[in-house]
Amino acid sequence: MAKLEFRGKTYTGEDEIRATLAAAGILFERWPLRGAASADEQVLSLYKPEVDRLMQERGYVAVDMVALRPSTPGLAEISARYDKEHHHVDDEVRFTVEGEGVFEIEGPDGGFLKFTATPGDLIVIPAYRRHLFYLTSASTIRCIRLFQDRGGWEALYEKIVN
Ligand SMILES: [Fe+2]
Repeated sequence: MAKLEFRGKTYTGEDEIRATLAAAGILFERWPLRGAASADEQVLSLYKPEVDRLMQERGYVAVDMVALRPSTPGLAEISARYDKEHHHVDDEVRFTVEGEGVFEIEGPDGGFLKFTATPGDLIVIPAYRRHLFYLTSASTIRCIRLFQDRGGWEALYEKIVN
Protein backbone atom coordinates (compact mmCIF):
# COMPACT_ATOMS: atom_id res chain seq x y z
CA MET A 1 0.00 0.00 0.00
CA ALA A 2 1.13 3.48 -0.83
CA LYS A 3 2.38 5.92 1.76
CA LEU A 4 2.06 9.70 1.66
CA GLU A 5 4.00 12.20 3.76
CA PHE A 6 2.92 15.84 3.72
CA ARG A 7 3.20 18.75 6.17
CA GLY A 8 4.61 16.50 8.93
CA LYS A 9 1.86 13.91 8.63
CA THR A 10 2.08 10.35 7.30
CA TYR A 11 -0.93 8.88 5.55
CA THR A 12 -1.27 5.15 4.89
CA GLY A 13 -5.03 4.76 4.37
CA GLU A 14 -6.29 4.59 0.80
CA ASP A 15 -9.06 7.16 1.29
CA GLU A 16 -6.92 9.74 3.10
CA ILE A 17 -4.14 9.36 0.53
CA ARG A 18 -6.62 9.80 -2.33
CA ALA A 19 -8.22 12.85 -0.71
CA THR A 20 -4.92 14.54 0.18
CA LEU A 21 -3.50 14.01 -3.30
CA ALA A 22 -6.79 15.07 -4.93
CA ALA A 23 -6.65 18.36 -3.00
CA ALA A 24 -3.28 18.92 -4.69
CA GLY A 25 -4.66 18.02 -8.13
CA ILE A 26 -3.01 14.60 -8.23
CA LEU A 27 -5.06 11.53 -9.17
CA PHE A 28 -4.54 8.38 -7.08
CA GLU A 29 -6.29 5.05 -7.57
CA ARG A 30 -5.82 1.52 -6.30
CA TRP A 31 -6.16 -1.20 -8.93
CA PRO A 32 -6.42 -4.90 -8.09
CA LEU A 33 -3.12 -6.76 -8.41
CA ARG A 34 -2.85 -9.18 -11.30
CA GLY A 35 0.01 -11.18 -12.77
CA ALA A 36 2.96 -9.12 -11.55
CA ALA A 37 5.36 -11.93 -12.48
CA SER A 38 4.15 -12.05 -16.08
CA ALA A 39 5.80 -10.70 -19.22
CA ASP A 40 5.02 -7.07 -20.18
CA GLU A 41 2.47 -7.94 -22.86
CA GLN A 42 0.60 -10.23 -20.48
CA VAL A 43 0.55 -7.57 -17.73
CA LEU A 44 -0.80 -5.00 -20.20
CA SER A 45 -3.59 -7.34 -21.25
CA LEU A 46 -4.47 -8.12 -17.62
CA TYR A 47 -4.86 -4.40 -16.92
CA LYS A 48 -6.59 -3.57 -20.20
CA PRO A 49 -9.94 -2.59 -18.56
CA GLU A 50 -8.34 -0.01 -16.25
CA VAL A 51 -5.91 1.22 -18.91
CA ASP A 52 -8.67 1.63 -21.52
CA ARG A 53 -10.86 3.52 -19.04
CA LEU A 54 -8.06 5.92 -18.14
CA MET A 55 -7.21 6.47 -21.82
CA GLN A 56 -10.82 7.30 -22.54
CA GLU A 57 -11.31 9.52 -19.46
CA ARG A 58 -8.08 11.48 -19.83
CA GLY A 59 -7.16 11.32 -23.50
CA TYR A 60 -4.07 9.15 -23.32
CA VAL A 61 -3.04 7.65 -26.64
CA ALA A 62 -0.13 5.37 -25.83
CA VAL A 63 0.79 2.82 -23.21
CA ASP A 64 3.95 0.90 -22.41
CA MET A 65 5.84 -0.65 -19.54
CA VAL A 66 9.10 0.33 -17.93
CA ALA A 67 11.26 -1.46 -15.39
CA LEU A 68 14.26 -0.38 -13.33
CA ARG A 69 16.24 -3.03 -11.46
CA PRO A 70 19.73 -3.33 -9.97
CA SER A 71 20.65 -5.20 -13.19
CA THR A 72 19.37 -2.41 -15.50
CA PRO A 73 22.31 -1.12 -17.60
CA GLY A 74 23.04 2.52 -16.75
CA LEU A 75 20.72 2.52 -13.74
CA ALA A 76 22.72 5.28 -12.01
CA GLU A 77 22.58 7.53 -15.10
CA ILE A 78 18.87 6.88 -15.60
CA SER A 79 18.15 7.58 -11.94
CA ALA A 80 20.16 10.82 -12.06
CA ARG A 81 17.86 12.08 -14.83
CA TYR A 82 14.80 11.92 -12.62
CA ASP A 83 16.01 12.49 -9.06
CA LYS A 84 16.35 16.25 -9.65
CA GLU A 85 13.34 18.53 -9.69
CA HIS A 86 11.79 18.61 -13.19
CA HIS A 87 8.51 18.60 -15.08
CA HIS A 88 7.12 17.25 -18.35
CA VAL A 89 4.72 18.73 -20.87
CA ASP A 90 2.70 15.48 -20.57
CA ASP A 91 1.16 13.93 -17.48
CA GLU A 92 3.39 11.43 -15.67
CA VAL A 93 1.10 8.40 -15.35
CA ARG A 94 2.45 5.41 -13.46
CA PHE A 95 0.78 2.23 -12.33
CA THR A 96 3.21 0.20 -10.24
CA VAL A 97 3.04 -3.56 -10.73
CA GLU A 98 6.23 -4.49 -8.90
CA GLY A 99 8.76 -2.85 -6.55
CA GLU A 100 8.46 0.71 -5.27
CA GLY A 101 9.61 4.25 -5.84
CA VAL A 102 9.25 7.70 -4.30
CA PHE A 103 7.69 10.70 -6.03
CA GLU A 104 8.10 14.11 -4.43
CA ILE A 105 5.51 16.37 -6.05
CA GLU A 106 5.02 20.11 -5.62
CA GLY A 107 1.71 20.99 -4.02
CA PRO A 108 -0.38 24.12 -4.55
CA ASP A 109 1.39 26.06 -1.77
CA GLY A 110 4.88 25.11 -2.94
CA GLY A 111 5.39 22.38 -0.32
CA PHE A 112 6.19 18.92 -1.65
CA LEU A 113 4.07 15.80 -1.15
CA LYS A 114 6.20 12.68 -0.70
CA PHE A 115 4.41 9.70 -2.20
CA THR A 116 5.80 6.17 -2.04
CA ALA A 117 4.31 4.08 -4.85
CA THR A 118 3.84 0.35 -4.25
CA PRO A 119 2.22 -2.43 -6.31
CA GLY A 120 -1.42 -1.60 -7.09
CA ASP A 121 -0.94 2.19 -6.95
CA LEU A 122 -1.82 4.45 -9.87
CA ILE A 123 -0.65 8.05 -9.73
CA VAL A 124 -1.08 10.86 -12.26
CA ILE A 125 1.26 13.83 -11.89
CA PRO A 126 -0.23 16.62 -14.02
CA ALA A 127 1.74 18.04 -16.93
CA TYR A 128 4.04 20.97 -15.95
CA ARG A 129 3.93 20.00 -12.25
CA ARG A 130 7.39 20.04 -10.66
CA HIS A 131 8.45 16.72 -9.15
CA LEU A 132 11.30 14.32 -8.71
CA PHE A 133 11.57 10.55 -8.48
CA TYR A 134 13.93 8.07 -6.89
CA LEU A 135 14.05 4.38 -6.10
CA THR A 136 14.00 2.96 -2.59
CA SER A 137 16.74 0.67 -1.24
CA ALA A 138 15.20 -2.23 -3.20
CA SER A 139 16.27 -0.43 -6.44
CA THR A 140 13.37 -2.03 -8.29
CA ILE A 141 10.21 -0.68 -9.87
CA ARG A 142 8.09 -1.88 -12.77
CA CYS A 143 5.28 0.30 -14.06
CA ILE A 144 2.67 0.71 -16.73
CA ARG A 145 2.95 4.21 -18.28
CA LEU A 146 0.36 6.15 -20.28
CA PHE A 147 0.99 9.14 -22.52
CA GLN A 148 -1.01 11.92 -24.16
CA ASP A 149 1.80 12.46 -26.61
CA ARG A 150 4.92 10.36 -26.97
CA GLY A 151 6.95 13.47 -27.77
CA GLY A 152 6.14 15.05 -24.38
CA TRP A 153 8.21 12.62 -22.39
CA GLU A 154 11.35 14.57 -21.64
CA ALA A 155 12.51 15.82 -18.26
CA LEU A 156 12.65 19.64 -18.24
CA TYR A 157 14.76 20.99 -15.41
CA GLU A 158 14.22 24.73 -15.89
CA LYS A 159 11.31 26.08 -13.93
CA ILE A 160 8.78 28.03 -15.98
CA VAL A 161 8.44 31.50 -14.51
CA ASN A 162 5.18 33.27 -15.26
FE1 LIG B 1 9.17 12.97 -14.16
